[in-house]
Amino acid sequence: MAVNPLAAESSLDLTGQTALITGGTRGIGRAIAARLAGQGATVILNYLRNRRAADETAELIEAQTGKRPILLKANVGDPEKVAELFIQVKEHTDRLDMLISNAASGVLRPAVELTKRHLEWSMEINAYALLYLTQQAIEMMPAGSRILAISSQGATHAIPNYAAVGASKAALEALVRHLCLELAPHGLRVNAISAGVVDTEALTHFPNRDELIAQAQSLTPAGRLVTPEDVADAALFLCSPLASMIQGQTLVVDGGYRIRS
Ligand SMILES: NC(=O)c1ccc[n+]([C@@H]2O[C@H](COP(=O)([O-])OP(=O)(O)OC[C@H]3O[C@@H](n4cnc5c(N)ncnc54)[C@H](OP(=O)(O)O)[C@@H]3O)[C@@H](O)[C@H]2O)c1
Repeated sequence: MAVNPLAAESSLDLTGQTALITGGTRGIGRAIAARLAGQGATVILNYLRNRRAADETAELIEAQTGKRPILLKANVGDPEKVAELFIQVKEHTDRLDMLISNAASGVLRPAVELTKRHLEWSMEINAYALLYLTQQAIEMMPAGSRILAISSQGATHAIPNYAAVGASKAALEALVRHLCLELAPHGLRVNAISAGVVDTEALTHFPNRDELIAQAQSLTPAGRLVTPEDVADAALFLCSPLASMIQGQTLVVDGGYRIRS
Protein backbone atom coordinates (compact mmCIF):
# COMPACT_ATOMS: atom_id res chain seq x y z
CA MET A 1 0.00 0.00 0.00
CA ALA A 2 1.39 3.42 -0.91
CA VAL A 3 2.20 5.70 2.04
CA ASN A 4 0.63 9.14 1.88
CA PRO A 5 3.10 11.56 3.54
CA LEU A 6 0.49 14.32 3.65
CA ALA A 7 -1.90 12.10 5.63
CA ALA A 8 0.87 11.26 8.12
CA GLU A 9 1.73 14.96 8.42
CA SER A 10 -1.86 15.96 9.14
CA SER A 11 -2.11 13.21 11.79
CA LEU A 12 0.44 15.16 13.81
CA ASP A 13 -1.64 18.35 13.78
CA LEU A 14 -2.85 19.16 17.30
CA THR A 15 -4.68 22.39 16.54
CA GLY A 16 -7.64 22.86 18.88
CA GLN A 17 -6.33 20.33 21.40
CA THR A 18 -5.14 20.97 24.95
CA ALA A 19 -2.34 19.22 26.84
CA LEU A 20 -1.40 19.31 30.52
CA ILE A 21 2.29 18.53 30.98
CA THR A 22 3.54 18.05 34.53
CA GLY A 23 7.10 19.22 35.02
CA GLY A 24 6.62 20.88 31.66
CA THR A 25 8.92 23.79 32.42
CA ARG A 26 12.37 22.17 32.34
CA GLY A 27 14.27 19.37 30.63
CA ILE A 28 12.26 16.67 28.88
CA GLY A 29 8.90 18.17 29.89
CA ARG A 30 9.86 21.49 28.32
CA ALA A 31 10.81 19.76 25.04
CA ILE A 32 7.50 17.85 25.01
CA ALA A 33 5.60 21.07 25.70
CA ALA A 34 7.41 22.87 22.87
CA ARG A 35 6.80 19.95 20.49
CA LEU A 36 3.07 19.70 21.21
CA ALA A 37 2.64 23.49 21.14
CA GLY A 38 4.55 23.59 17.84
CA GLN A 39 1.91 21.27 16.41
CA GLY A 40 -0.83 23.68 17.48
CA ALA A 41 -1.80 22.40 20.94
CA THR A 42 -2.62 24.73 23.81
CA VAL A 43 -0.25 23.70 26.59
CA ILE A 44 -0.74 23.96 30.34
CA LEU A 45 2.55 23.57 32.14
CA ASN A 46 2.79 22.43 35.73
CA TYR A 47 5.92 22.94 37.85
CA LEU A 48 6.84 22.78 41.53
CA ARG A 49 9.27 25.53 42.61
CA ASN A 50 11.32 27.09 39.84
CA ARG A 51 9.21 30.02 38.60
CA ARG A 52 12.09 31.50 36.62
CA ALA A 53 12.44 28.34 34.51
CA ALA A 54 8.66 28.29 34.07
CA ASP A 55 8.64 31.89 32.82
CA GLU A 56 11.58 31.21 30.48
CA THR A 57 9.77 28.20 29.01
CA ALA A 58 6.57 30.19 28.58
CA GLU A 59 8.52 32.92 26.75
CA LEU A 60 10.29 30.38 24.55
CA ILE A 61 7.04 28.69 23.53
CA GLU A 62 5.27 32.01 23.03
CA ALA A 63 8.11 33.17 20.75
CA GLN A 64 7.85 29.90 18.80
CA THR A 65 4.06 29.66 18.50
CA GLY A 66 2.62 33.10 19.30
CA LYS A 67 0.60 31.55 22.11
CA ARG A 68 1.67 31.80 25.76
CA PRO A 69 1.37 28.58 27.79
CA ILE A 70 -0.58 28.57 31.04
CA LEU A 71 1.70 28.00 34.06
CA LEU A 72 0.35 26.22 37.13
CA LYS A 73 2.37 25.47 40.26
CA ALA A 74 1.49 22.32 42.22
CA ASN A 75 3.10 19.31 43.84
CA VAL A 76 1.75 16.39 41.81
CA GLY A 77 2.76 13.95 44.55
CA ASP A 78 0.01 15.27 46.84
CA PRO A 79 -3.57 14.30 45.90
CA GLU A 80 -5.02 17.42 47.55
CA LYS A 81 -2.65 19.67 45.57
CA VAL A 82 -3.57 17.79 42.39
CA ALA A 83 -7.27 18.43 43.12
CA GLU A 84 -6.44 22.14 43.57
CA LEU A 85 -4.42 22.06 40.35
CA PHE A 86 -7.47 20.81 38.46
CA ILE A 87 -9.65 23.59 39.89
CA GLN A 88 -7.18 25.94 38.19
CA VAL A 89 -7.00 23.85 35.01
CA LYS A 90 -10.80 24.10 34.73
CA GLU A 91 -10.58 27.90 34.88
CA HIS A 92 -8.77 27.70 31.54
CA THR A 93 -10.37 24.76 29.75
CA ASP A 94 -13.26 22.32 30.08
CA ARG A 95 -11.46 19.68 27.99
CA LEU A 96 -8.09 17.93 28.12
CA ASP A 97 -6.95 15.91 25.12
CA MET A 98 -3.50 14.96 26.45
CA LEU A 99 -2.18 14.39 29.93
CA ILE A 100 1.61 14.01 30.08
CA SER A 101 2.76 12.81 33.50
CA ASN A 102 6.40 13.76 33.30
CA ALA A 103 7.39 15.41 36.60
CA ALA A 104 9.69 13.35 38.76
CA SER A 105 11.78 13.57 41.85
CA GLY A 106 13.37 11.04 44.15
CA VAL A 107 16.02 10.11 46.59
CA LEU A 108 19.29 8.85 45.15
CA ARG A 109 20.79 6.56 47.80
CA PRO A 110 21.85 2.94 48.15
CA ALA A 111 18.80 0.69 48.72
CA VAL A 112 20.03 -0.38 52.15
CA GLU A 113 19.93 3.25 53.37
CA LEU A 114 16.40 4.09 52.20
CA THR A 115 13.85 5.16 54.82
CA LYS A 116 10.05 5.05 54.65
CA ARG A 117 10.05 8.79 53.95
CA HIS A 118 12.51 8.44 51.03
CA LEU A 119 10.40 5.67 49.51
CA GLU A 120 7.10 7.50 49.98
CA TRP A 121 8.50 10.69 48.42
CA SER A 122 9.72 8.83 45.33
CA MET A 123 6.57 6.71 44.95
CA GLU A 124 4.16 9.61 45.45
CA ILE A 125 5.72 11.91 42.85
CA ASN A 126 6.88 9.36 40.30
CA ALA A 127 4.15 6.72 40.40
CA TYR A 128 1.03 7.70 42.34
CA ALA A 129 0.93 11.14 40.68
CA LEU A 130 -0.17 9.40 37.47
CA LEU A 131 -3.20 8.05 39.34
CA TYR A 132 -4.03 11.32 41.11
CA LEU A 133 -3.79 13.21 37.81
CA THR A 134 -5.76 10.64 35.82
CA GLN A 135 -8.52 10.48 38.45
CA GLN A 136 -8.96 14.25 38.20
CA ALA A 137 -8.53 14.45 34.43
CA ILE A 138 -10.75 11.68 33.06
CA GLU A 139 -14.02 13.59 33.38
CA MET A 140 -12.46 16.24 31.10
CA MET A 141 -10.99 13.75 28.62
CA PRO A 142 -13.23 12.79 25.69
CA ALA A 143 -12.83 9.52 23.78
CA GLY A 144 -9.66 9.76 21.72
CA SER A 145 -7.66 11.45 24.49
CA ARG A 146 -4.20 10.27 25.44
CA ILE A 147 -2.34 9.78 28.71
CA LEU A 148 1.43 9.44 28.62
CA ALA A 149 3.88 8.78 31.47
CA ILE A 150 7.64 9.22 31.35
CA SER A 151 9.62 6.33 32.78
CA SER A 152 13.27 5.31 32.88
CA GLN A 153 15.60 2.36 32.62
CA GLY A 154 15.55 1.92 36.41
CA ALA A 155 12.09 0.32 36.06
CA THR A 156 13.64 -2.75 34.49
CA HIS A 157 17.39 -2.58 35.24
CA ALA A 158 19.49 -2.00 38.36
CA ILE A 159 21.34 1.34 38.48
CA PRO A 160 23.60 2.42 41.38
CA ASN A 161 21.78 4.64 43.94
CA TYR A 162 18.52 4.41 41.93
CA ALA A 163 16.52 1.85 43.98
CA ALA A 164 13.82 4.27 45.17
CA VAL A 165 13.31 5.89 41.77
CA GLY A 166 13.65 2.57 39.92
CA ALA A 167 10.97 0.97 42.08
CA SER A 168 8.69 3.97 41.53
CA LYS A 169 9.21 3.80 37.75
CA ALA A 170 8.43 0.05 37.79
CA ALA A 171 5.21 0.88 39.64
CA LEU A 172 4.52 3.64 37.11
CA GLU A 173 4.81 1.24 34.16
CA ALA A 174 2.49 -1.24 35.93
CA LEU A 175 -0.03 1.55 36.55
CA VAL A 176 0.11 2.45 32.85
CA ARG A 177 -0.93 -1.11 31.95
CA HIS A 178 -3.73 -1.20 34.52
CA LEU A 179 -5.05 2.23 33.59
CA CYS A 180 -5.01 1.16 29.95
CA LEU A 181 -7.11 -1.89 30.77
CA GLU A 182 -9.69 0.32 32.49
CA LEU A 183 -9.66 3.30 30.14
CA ALA A 184 -9.12 1.83 26.65
CA PRO A 185 -12.77 0.67 26.51
CA HIS A 186 -13.72 4.35 27.00
CA GLY A 187 -11.55 5.39 24.05
CA LEU A 188 -8.57 6.69 26.04
CA ARG A 189 -5.02 5.59 25.28
CA VAL A 190 -2.46 5.18 28.05
CA ASN A 191 1.23 4.60 27.33
CA ALA A 192 4.70 5.34 28.68
CA ILE A 193 8.05 6.30 27.24
CA SER A 194 11.17 4.94 28.92
CA ALA A 195 13.99 7.29 28.04
CA GLY A 196 17.70 6.55 28.07
CA VAL A 197 20.14 8.92 29.78
CA VAL A 198 19.25 12.52 28.88
CA ASP A 199 21.59 15.30 30.01
CA THR A 200 19.09 17.49 31.92
CA GLU A 201 19.48 19.22 35.28
CA ALA A 202 18.11 16.04 36.89
CA LEU A 203 21.46 14.39 36.24
CA THR A 204 23.30 16.95 38.38
CA HIS A 205 21.77 15.19 41.43
CA PHE A 206 23.49 11.91 40.54
CA PRO A 207 26.77 11.40 42.43
CA ASN A 208 28.04 9.43 39.39
CA ARG A 209 26.72 11.80 36.66
CA ASP A 210 29.93 11.91 34.58
CA GLU A 211 30.27 8.13 34.62
CA LEU A 212 26.59 7.71 33.61
CA ILE A 213 26.97 10.06 30.66
CA ALA A 214 30.28 8.59 29.49
CA GLN A 215 28.89 5.06 29.69
CA ALA A 216 25.69 5.95 27.84
CA GLN A 217 27.66 7.77 25.16
CA SER A 218 30.09 4.93 24.56
CA LEU A 219 27.56 2.06 24.76
CA THR A 220 24.67 3.55 22.78
CA PRO A 221 24.62 1.90 19.34
CA ALA A 222 23.20 5.10 17.83
CA GLY A 223 26.43 6.81 18.94
CA ARG A 224 25.06 9.72 20.97
CA LEU A 225 23.01 10.56 24.03
CA VAL A 226 19.24 10.78 23.82
CA THR A 227 18.09 14.42 23.76
CA PRO A 228 14.91 15.90 25.25
CA GLU A 229 13.79 16.46 21.65
CA ASP A 230 14.13 12.73 20.86
CA VAL A 231 11.74 12.00 23.73
CA ALA A 232 9.42 14.80 22.60
CA ASP A 233 9.25 13.33 19.08
CA ALA A 234 8.25 9.94 20.51
CA ALA A 235 5.67 11.67 22.73
CA LEU A 236 4.17 13.40 19.69
CA PHE A 237 4.00 10.08 17.86
CA LEU A 238 2.28 8.36 20.80
CA CYS A 239 -0.17 11.27 21.04
CA SER A 240 -0.99 11.03 17.34
CA PRO A 241 -3.57 8.82 15.63
CA LEU A 242 -0.60 7.03 13.98
CA ALA A 243 -0.27 5.25 17.35
CA SER A 244 -3.95 4.52 17.85
CA MET A 245 -3.44 0.76 18.41
CA ILE A 246 -0.48 1.21 20.75
CA GLN A 247 -2.07 0.70 24.15
CA GLY A 248 -0.60 0.16 27.62
CA GLN A 249 2.97 0.00 26.30
CA THR A 250 6.29 1.41 27.40
CA LEU A 251 8.22 2.63 24.38
CA VAL A 252 12.00 2.59 24.94
CA VAL A 253 13.75 5.67 23.49
CA ASP A 254 17.43 5.07 24.19
CA GLY A 255 19.29 4.85 20.88
CA GLY A 256 19.56 1.08 21.36
CA TYR A 257 21.46 1.23 24.69
CA ARG A 258 19.37 -1.45 26.36
CA ILE A 259 19.73 -4.10 23.67
CA ARG A 260 23.24 -4.68 24.97
CA SER A 261 22.30 -5.56 28.56
N1 LIG B 1 17.14 12.98 32.51
C1 LIG B 1 17.18 11.68 32.29
O1 LIG B 1 18.25 11.10 32.07
C2 LIG B 1 15.92 10.86 32.27
C3 LIG B 1 16.00 9.54 31.78
C4 LIG B 1 14.83 8.77 31.77
C5 LIG B 1 13.65 9.29 32.22
N2 LIG B 1 13.61 10.57 32.71
C6 LIG B 1 12.32 11.04 33.20
O2 LIG B 1 11.93 12.17 32.44
C7 LIG B 1 11.11 13.02 33.24
C8 LIG B 1 11.66 14.43 33.22
O3 LIG B 1 13.02 14.39 33.70
P1 LIG B 1 14.02 15.61 33.48
O4 LIG B 1 15.37 15.02 33.44
O5 LIG B 1 13.54 16.47 32.37
O6 LIG B 1 13.84 16.37 34.89
P2 LIG B 1 14.22 17.86 35.32
O7 LIG B 1 15.05 18.53 34.28
O8 LIG B 1 14.76 17.73 36.71
O9 LIG B 1 12.79 18.61 35.37
C9 LIG B 1 11.87 18.19 36.30
C10 LIG B 1 10.56 18.96 36.12
O10 LIG B 1 9.59 18.38 37.01
C11 LIG B 1 9.10 19.37 37.90
N3 LIG B 1 8.79 18.74 39.19
C12 LIG B 1 9.61 18.05 40.01
N4 LIG B 1 8.93 17.59 41.07
C13 LIG B 1 7.65 18.00 40.91
C14 LIG B 1 6.47 17.85 41.68
N5 LIG B 1 6.46 17.17 42.83
N6 LIG B 1 5.32 18.42 41.22
C15 LIG B 1 5.31 19.10 40.06
N7 LIG B 1 6.39 19.27 39.28
C16 LIG B 1 7.55 18.75 39.72
C17 LIG B 1 10.20 20.41 37.98
O11 LIG B 1 9.65 21.66 38.41
P3 LIG B 1 10.62 22.82 39.04
O12 LIG B 1 11.38 23.39 37.88
O13 LIG B 1 9.67 23.79 39.65
O14 LIG B 1 11.51 22.14 40.02
C18 LIG B 1 10.66 20.42 36.51
O15 LIG B 1 9.77 21.16 35.71
C19 LIG B 1 11.09 12.38 34.64
O16 LIG B 1 9.96 11.57 34.77
C20 LIG B 1 12.35 11.53 34.63
O17 LIG B 1 12.30 10.46 35.55
C21 LIG B 1 14.71 11.36 32.75
